[in-house]
Amino acid sequence: MPNITYIEDDGGTFTHDVPIGNSVMEGAIDNGVEGIVAACGGCMSCASCHCYIEPAWQARVGLPSEDEDDVLDSAQYRQTNSRLSCQIEVTKQLSGLTVRLPKNQC
Ligand code: FES
Repeated sequence: MPNITYIEDDGGTFTHDVPIGNSVMEGAIDNGVEGIVAACGGCMSCASCHCYIEPAWQARVGLPSEDEDDVLDSAQYRQTNSRLSCQIEVTKQLSGLTVRLPKNQC
């Protein structure tokens, strides 16, 4: 099973196995990673699953869709490497992915 590493803003680092086909957001919620809220449950309307993709992973993860980009505009701490974790499907190729989380999801 692929593993995903979540790094909270305070440096707390958590690595969890996430089933293929689940989202990076689901991997966080299922394992109690507090830096991801996911208020809309993954229907891409809240931006509270915001994360940052480490530079080494950006090509493999890819860019946000136009719709995701619009939702990301509502994230307070958006950066050039921002993604919505509910829109990143876990695949075998993403095993070892590291995402950083913003200081809050407001
Ligand atoms: Fe709401 Fe991702 S969980 S936009």
